[in-house]
Amino acid sequence: MQNNVLILDFGSQYTQLIARRVRELNIFCEIKPYNKVPEDMSSYKAVILSGSPFSVRSEDAPHPDLSKIKGKIPLLGVCYGAQYLAHFNGGKVEPSNTREYGRARLTNIKSDEPFFYGIIGGSQVWMSHSDTIQDLPENAVVLANTADVKNAAYRIDGEDTYAIQFHPEVYHTSQGKIILQNFLVHIAGLEQTWTPDAFVETTVSQLREKVGTDKVILGLSGGVDSTVAAVLLHKAIGKNLHCIFVNNGLLRKNEFQEVLDQYEDMGLNVKGVDASARFLDALAGESDPEGKRKIIGKVFIDVFDDEAHLVKDAKWLAQGTIYPDVIESVSVTGGPSATIKSHHNVGGLPDFMKLKVVEPLKMLFKDEVRRVGASMKISGDRLGRHPFPGPGLAIRILGDITREKVAILQEVDAIFIDGLREWGLYDKVWQAGAMLLPVNSVGVMGDERTYEKCVALRAVESTDGMTADWVDLPYEFLQKTSNEIINKVPGVNRVVYDISSKPPATIEWE
Ligand code: XMP
Repeated sequence: MQNNVLILDFGSQYTQLIARRVRELNIFCEIKPYNKVPEDMSSYKAVILSGSPFSVRSEDAPHPDLSKIKGKIPLLGVCYGAQYLAHFNGGKVEPSNTREYGRARLTNIKSDEPFFYGIIGGSQVWMSHSDTIQDLPENAVVLANTADVKNAAYRIDGEDTYAIQFHPEVYHTSQGKIILQNFLVHIAGLEQTWTPDAFVETTVSQLREKVGTDKVILGLSGGVDSTVAAVLLHKAIGKNLHCIFVNNGLLRKNEFQEVLDQYEDMGLNVKGVDASARFLDALAGESDPEGKRKIIGKVFIDVFDDEAHLVKDAKWLAQGTIYPDVIESVSVTGGPSATIKSHHNVGGLPDFMKLKVVEPLKMLFKDEVRRVGASMKISGDRLGRHPFPGPGLAIRILGDITREKVAILQEVDAIFIDGLREWGLYDKVWQAGAMLLPVNSVGVMGDERTYEKCVALRAVESTDGMTADWVDLPYEFLQKTSNEIINKVPGVNRVVYDISSKPPATIEWE
């Protein structure tokens, strides 16, 4: 890839945000840990140094050798990156004696400099640092300051080296994206050509080259990532892509048939495998959440392996891995992490795991996967689907799993989710579902005393599932949904709504 930006990660919580902002400018970029500067820098047209929780003055702080970069490739230091460039080039970085967190306003902006084209005086920026740059390197030119930070932005004379104390990547820096664009486009000369359409075109031709006329196997889950990966591969190699969609008996009501039909309508070469009985038999009597996950994982591998063997001479296994799964960032607590998340256990691999792996989405963030999907005309319904856990309803049935409990929960879940759609609430919620609780409670229906199950409804807003808050659904909606569930689903006489945030609760109950 020519037209590429390298982001060196010093462990800031915002490093991924820098990458997202750059990508939003339709410019491709990659994140690498600060101590893994690539030998060959020829494909990078610009480098950005991230922030860091460290102080440049501390011995164990990241101190990489930038001799291949500084003065040779356009370079932008952000926060720690800016302090690093000052500290190692004759400037002075010291603990700050004024508060430098949160909102600040840029003043004395050199708006005739390309770096600050279009930036207005008083523009809001976001600060988060405890050290400050007291003295700049000798050949530095100040480009802006704030009330508390005299060297808020500077450049090195005679080089395309720029540095800013604030964070252009965060939402609260109101003109941050323009500053990044100025640096990348006006100074580094990058082209803004990295669009979803361009991604599809280049990926399809790369896949054709890589895979040729080989057969590829892919496991579809109904989720966004595996669907987009399948459609991309199908564009590239057509019927040589063999998709397998397994029903583990723990999907939503009618989900297996509806999604299978959609996949067929998309022209995918897909085989639906109803292995419900295998999963539910294996789960009988298991109440422990991790035990359930292990059983489901193992049965899935067995079923998938059986099916994969039926595709004769397959050479490749395609996966819908995305960038946050493979990104190799710096871990603040344990130094640079050398581990890339592994999806599979290496001991005793089943045959399909010995296939060569192809991962067409592994450089994309989730929102980019959706945009690529949209550019290939995948329906908004499929792309906007709420996340659904691999073990499915098994981790929403507290305690042991029986076919009857699955059937009850499927009915409850369908009323809740259909209701969200009807009320126009589905897209306002990040994830929603129902939990079947292991408690019976007393109720009364007509003149009859009942002693039946309780279900909990959960709807959360989130961006990545790491933190989440419950959604304030309208009372009228909750009232109607609760009535409908109790009236229509035999065995349920009580509905509660979960108002816990994550943390301290989790999204799923198991
Ligand atoms: P928690 O419950 O940890 O869930 O707050 C965060 C997100 O992860 C999903 N989740 C899973 N997904 N296998 C999956 O594929 C699992 O075992 C699993 N457990 C939780 C959950 O649905 C939510 O989106």
